Amino acid sequence: MRIAMIGTGYVGLVTGACFSEFGVDVCCVDKDADKIRRLKQGEIPIFEPGLEQLVEGNVKAGRLSFTTDLREAVTGADAVFIAVGTPSRRGDGHADLSYVYAAAREIAENMRGYTVVVTKSTVPVGTGREVEAIIRECRPDAEFDVCSNPEFLREGAAINDFMRPDRVVIGCESERAREVMRTLYRPLYLIETPIVFTALETSEMIKYAANTFLATKITFINEIADLCEKVGADVHDVARGIGLDGRIGRKFLHPGPGYGGSCFPKDTLALVKTAQDFGSPLRIIETVVDVNDRRKKAMAERIVAACGGSVAGKTVAVLGLTFKPNTDDMRDSPALDIVPALQAAGAIIRAYDPEGMDEAARHMDGIKFGQSAYEAMDGADAVAIVTEWNEFRALDLARMKKLLKAPVVVDLRNVYDPKDMRAAGFEYTCIGRGTGRPARAASEAAQ
Ligand SMILES: NC(=O)c1ccc[n+]([C@@H]2O[C@H](COP(=O)([O-])OP(=O)(O)OC[C@H]3O[C@@H](n4cnc5c(N)ncnc54)[C@H](O)[C@@H]3O)[C@@H](O)[C@H]2O)c1
Repeated sequence: MRIAMIGTGYVGLVTGACFSEFGVDVCCVDKDADKIRRLKQGEIPIFEPGLEQLVEGNVKAGRLSFTTDLREAVTGADAVFIAVGTPSRRGDGHADLSYVYAAAREIAENMRGYTVVVTKSTVPVGTGREVEAIIRECRPDAEFDVCSNPEFLREGAAINDFMRPDRVVIGCESERAREVMRTLYRPLYLIETPIVFTALETSEMIKYAANTFLATKITFINEIADLCEKVGADVHDVARGIGLDGRIGRKFLHPGPGYGGSCFPKDTLALVKTAQDFGSPLRIIETVVDVNDRRKKAMAERIVAACGGSVAGKTVAVLGLTFKPNTDDMRDSPALDIVPALQAAGAIIRAYDPEGMDEAARHMDGIKFGQSAYEAMDGADAVAIVTEWNEFRALDLARMKKLLKAPVVVDLRNVYDPKDMRAAGFEYTCIGRGTGRPARAASEAAQ
């Protein structure tokens, strides 16, 4: 089997490397010449645990190669995967499909013999049909089928997610294409991974329904956390208490500063737009988008409040900048709202992130970066934990206390136990962990 992967980003590179590990001959293509040059030199352009070894092994074995020349990759491939970006279109929030359609045209011009064209990018319902129409228009003679095969991997755990997924979803309407896809995913059949074959549109819809559901679950617990704070309840116990119910499940019930990343923000918005276009609005997801946007903005206010109502002239140490740990991805990270808002309020930002500082420096100005969490905290008036990297989970509290000018800790990921922190002498703020004493309800207070 030979495949081409168009787009060698977080998804294309991981997917390409994993397929090559299955024994498939994979050629990864990208328009970004610098990315391909680095890959050819054995350098991995993104941070993803385990990826370097996986790429190195498969390149050495001759199963994985990189090129900027789409023709070289596509000609003679049994399947061509489109794994290019589908960011939010500026202005209206629809998914920008220009990269997908451009790739479809280039594939059409270069494919030879029967080819299965697979959309791995997250694309709105109807995109697969459009890809089919574009290819048919360019190459009326060509023998091909279009499949949808959305990707569910999580950055930071991407290799395991690809190798041991909960399921694989394939939207496919031809037996010939189904056979090609079955052959590609055969190693997963052996570990009894459910492979869900559906119609093209259904598969596209599954990806958006999955992401918007997860974004809703996060937003739900975030709002419950806020209420817990007010009524004196502890959101961790609430999450456990509801999560043990098999109908609810324990995952995605961790309160935090609002979801970010390369998928949830743009996918929630894109589905809202699709639903509006079809006259079948998704009121719940519309609210989720709105609540999450406001939440990310409100996080800086929490930090300001913890600093006594003003951060003007104060130094805030920010620990963690990426949207989650184990990635260098800054796309839609809560830090992109928090840091500029604190700067606008007059704060000096000293930040540390194990992998995200280069990327963060491309998106935000005026940050002083430390080489460690402790260096960032040295002489700061407060520290805010924004991303829960493992190395922030067991900080030396005595050392922290000595380094900080004031013992103010704002833990937006609930990494620490409030009792321990307060016992250690910190003024500690976290999310949704009430003290057991309810604040007076607003209606009561007004009486
Ligand atoms: N990142 C994730 O965790 C994740 C998970 C599941 C699904 N997805 C989806 O997968 C898709 C890709 O996401 P990503 O995070 O890998 O994006 P990315 O931005 O990291 O990578 C996309 C790559 O495609 C390249 N590219 C664009 N047009 C090209 C063309 N015509 N020919 C060759 N290369 C081209 C770009 O240069 C870039 O390197 C998106 O639709 C995304 O929603 C992402």
